[in-house]
Amino acid sequence: QAELPEGYKLRALRQEDYDLGFLDCLRVLTTVGDISKEEFDKRYQWLANQDGTYFILVIEDTNTSPSRIVGTGALIVERKFIHDLGKVGHIEDIAVAKDQQGKKLGLRIIQALDFIAKETGCYKTILDCSEHNEGFYVKCGFKRAGLEMAHYH
Ligand code: ACO
Repeated sequence: QAELPEGYKLRALRQEDYDLGFLDCLRVLTTVGDISKEEFDKRYQWLANQDGTYFILVIEDTNTSPSRIVGTGALIVERKFIHDLGKVGHIEDIAVAKDQQGKKLGLRIIQALDFIAKETGCYKTILDCSEHNEGFYVKCGFKRAGLEMAHYH
C-alpha cells in the first residue's frame, strides 16, 4: 500500500468538509453546481441513513490552515439476487485536486475503497472511466471489462 505524504489524512467524509473545500475538490471531475450548506447537509444525512451502502472517503491536507480536502472517492455497495444474494462494489466520483495530482493520492483512495468493498463482502468492484484514465486504473489493479452505455435524461 502506498504511503500518504506527511500531514495528509485519509478518512470518511464529514459534514464539516463542506467548509474544507470538499465540493471544490469534486469540481476537477465535473460540474457540481451551487450547493448550499443546507442542501449539502440534507444529502449527507440521507446518504448516512442508507446503512452500509455509501462509503465516501476524503483525503485532508492538514499542513495548511485551515486544512483542505484534496482528494475524494465513493463506493456504493449494490445488493443483488444473483450470485447467492451477492454484492457488487461500484467506485464513483474519484477526484484529486489539480495541484495534488501525481502524489499517489488517487491510488490510495482506490485501494481504500476496494478494501472496504472486499470487507463488506463484494465479490467484485467495478467502475466506469474515460480512455484517458484507463492507465491510472490499470496501475490500481483494474482491467478493462465490458462497455459502458448511457441514456442521459
Ligand atoms: N493515465 C495513465 N496513468 C496515470 C493517469 C492517467 N490519466 N493518472 C495517473 N496515472 C498513473 C500515475 O502516473 C501513477 O503511476 P506510477 O505508479 O507509475 O507513478 C499511478 O497512475 C497512480 O497515480 P496517482 O498519483 O495516484 O494519481 P492521482 O492522484 O493524480 O489521481 C486521478 C488520478 C484521480 C485520475 C486524477 O488525475 C483526477 O482527479 N483527475 C480528474 C478527475 C477524474 O478524471 N477522475 C476519475 C474519473 S473516473 C471515476 O470517478 C470512476
